[in-house]
Amino acid sequence: MFSSKILGTGSYLPEKILTNADIVQKVETTEEWIFDRTGIKTRHVAADDQNTTDLAKIAAERAIEAANIDKSKIDCVLFATVSPDQVMPSAACMLQAKLGLQRCAALDLSAACTGFVYALSVADQFIKTGMYQNILVVGAEVLTRYVNYDDRDTCILFGDGAGAFVLSRNEDETSNAKIYSAHLYADGYLGDLFELPGGGSAHPVSVPMIQEGLHYMRMKGREVFKNAVRSMNDCCKEALEVNNMSEPDVQWLIPHQANIRIIDAVAKNFGINKEKVIINIQRTGNTSAGTIPIAFDEAVREGKIKRGDKILLAAFGAGITSGSMLLEY
Ligand code: COA
Repeated sequence: MFSSKILGTGSYLPEKILTNADIVQKVETTEEWIFDRTGIKTRHVAADDQNTTDLAKIAAERAIEAANIDKSKIDCVLFATVSPDQVMPSAACMLQAKLGLQRCAALDLSAACTGFVYALSVADQFIKTGMYQNILVVGAEVLTRYVNYDDRDTCILFGDGAGAFVLSRNEDETSNAKIYSAHLYADGYLGDLFELPGGGSAHPVSVPMIQEGLHYMRMKGREVFKNAVRSMNDCCKEALEVNNMSEPDVQWLIPHQANIRIIDAVAKNFGINKEKVIINIQRTGNTSAGTIPIAFDEAVREGKIKRGDKILLAAFGAGITSGSMLLEY
């Protein structure tokens, strides 16, 4: 069986920035409330002419450059998103075309904010079996197009962004890089805690559907919060137990960036020093499937994450989905 190595990472955040002061102009809230309750100060917002695959294209080009491989060698594109440019064709197919990749496999994966961890795990399985050798794994969203800027519970949280990895068969005899394990879960019965009902077959696009506001995300924030802490704690514990490791064995925890208080609760439960937790939520907000690859790429480029480091990823999202992954970079 082969093992996977992250050959290169890339990310992209659009230029336009939405500050807490901007949000105060839209809904009844304060800059302090938003920062205290979420840890977020700013979020990036895609320009009107930028769609999810445009953000992904830049992140993917940066990942391919960092991986130092010819893009003709990419044999699969796996795209985690819940905000594709169109219902069809898939974001993965659109990205393949935009990057000028050769004929290869291309598919989207929908697991909301856990999407990138799911996608990385699927890519790892393809590599382990020998089916593919170089997979472009992307997590990208333009979720701000689904935000109701009259709803103070949700409009404070979300931003746009993209991250990408080139995950490849590890052929480097000097490297132990691999994905140790992934633990992926869903609690579908909790689906109504965080949803975007409009635009699907249950509520096709229509004037009444839009009048009801079903084309916006809606969320039971407090319930999502509780489930997030519980599910991320469980997944992190399982990742360490299965691999016979404990906190000192792990150099970095990269949690989904949804709320600093969720991150703090998970870090505390895990007993991990906050210095070992990668956090960028203050600048980015919640970019859903984008948060983990963006935070990962920024930490690589800042020189924090180094080859040989063991890294624990932990995520949760609409579904309710959750998952963890333990890997060596
Ligand atoms: N500004 C000021 N007050 C606000 C507010 C805002 N933007 N949003 C909510 N409030 C109010 C509520 O109306 C409530 O008032 P009440 O006590 O008079 O009813 C009060 O603040 C407390 O609301 P609550 O929902 O308990 O706040 P909270 O501490 O749970 O914070 C969230 C709200 C949304 C920030 C928090 O629940 C959260 O982050 N949840 C997880 C969401 C998430 O991660 N979603 C993505 C999943 S991937």
